[in-house]
Amino acid sequence: MSSVMKPAPHAGLHAIEHASRDEIVALQLARLRDTLHRAYRHVAHYRESFDAAGVHPDDVRELSDLARFPFTTKKDLRDHYPFGLFAVPREEVVRIHASSGTTGKPTVVGYTQRDVDTWADLVARSIHAAGGRRGDIVHVAYGYGLFTGGLGAHYGAERLGCTVIPMSGGQTEKQVQLIVDFRPDLIMVTPSYMQVIVEELERQGVDARSTSLRVGIFGAEPWTEAMRVDIERRAGLDAVDIYGLSEVMGPGVASECIESKDGPVIWEDHFLPEIVDPETGELLPDGVEGELVFTSLTKEALPIVRYRTRDLTRLLPPTSRAFRRMGKIVGRSDDMLIIRGVNVFPTQLEEIVLQHRQLSGQYQIVVSRDGPLDAVELRCEFQPDVVGGDAAAVSDWLRQRIKTLVGISTRVSVLPCNTIERPSTGKARRVIDRRGT
Ligand code: DLL
Repeated sequence: MSSVMKPAPHAGLHAIEHASRDEIVALQLARLRDTLHRAYRHVAHYRESFDAAGVHPDDVRELSDLARFPFTTKKDLRDHYPFGLFAVPREEVVRIHASSGTTGKPTVVGYTQRDVDTWADLVARSIHAAGGRRGDIVHVAYGYGLFTGGLGAHYGAERLGCTVIPMSGGQTEKQVQLIVDFRPDLIMVTPSYMQVIVEELERQGVDARSTSLRVGIFGAEPWTEAMRVDIERRAGLDAVDIYGLSEVMGPGVASECIESKDGPVIWEDHFLPEIVDPETGELLPDGVEGELVFTSLTKEALPIVRYRTRDLTRLLPPTSRAFRRMGKIVGRSDDMLIIRGVNVFPTQLEEIVLQHRQLSGQYQIVVSRDGPLDAVELRCEFQPDVVGGDAAAVSDWLRQRIKTLVGISTRVSVLPCNTIERPSTGKARRVIDRRGT
């Protein structure tokens, strides 16, 4: 009888999520041509840059022709601050978001009503892929405001038919109170802030594994498989990865399926991914690591052509859906440290810290100058339940593993619990660079 009860294999999925490759490519090609035409017609910057490169939207006969078009970078967005890349009259833009640059002006993005609708549909699709269903309670702890995380998650959860708790980031004690009292099924938050919430639950004497939370949808910053295992074990939930960036839309450009947890599925009916060599811009084949580049296929207010994300990853074949996946982001090319000639990403050190059961998942990397050379100090700390931990032994263990696996010499400080500064909200600051000071 149980076979009668089984849901259909594609229950709740949009037809395109299980379409054939040919159908997907045909849709992408039609949408790509349309996007390039609209960009060329309505955005002076695209018209000038396509002309300068000697390419025209009519030249696109197949998807691979896109490789002849010029890239768009964050600098292009800054140079046309605030609204210069919009392809529709400003009155048709119903929403603005912005990502705060570390220096100077923010990067501004805009959405028409249809863009906001598409975004909500894609975040709803992402939450569904994560196992969320109509009627679930979703606690949103991504920040609301100019950051796309809070409102992006919010509209998507509402679109799916969930009850949304728009908590936003910060006020950790209140986060915990609402999780205990409102009994949400899902939480959407950065993985580093989830760690802080778990610690606060434990501090208040609540068993973090006993909450109502079933699934966490984590993104907005790089996090490793080791972090997934750690959070799942400590919080007793399924942790899935959601990826996005404001220039391309916001959260929900790609998102992971709970049944496979094998890297975010790129919603290829709306975004065309490419991987290029970060140095030369040369196109790389699927499976090879490089810089992720996106072209939007349906955006109206801010069509984006070959946007250089700076995120390093690779494209993987489809599994749970008909679309290709991306590997977990290794890091941003901007975050890469070059320590005595060795390229190092913070995530590589995160993997190693989390292998040691006595350590909490909190860490910081302090980079400074040691004469002409760069020096790295890795700061991590004991779990709260470790009594009389041997800091010297743990730091020796870490130093040796880092030397063997990453190839750099580090100074390691193993500190008492709760010494390292916690992210108060949003994205964690894992690297402190003192080389300029
Ligand atoms: O962080 C959008 C977002 C909000 C994604 C909430 C997921 C959840 P930005 O502030 O523009 O937008 O930052 C985008 O964050 O280029 C990556 O470097 C990083 N990033 C986002 N998601 C992930 C992820 C949002 N799942 C930048 N894994 C991107 C690794 C991520 N890095």
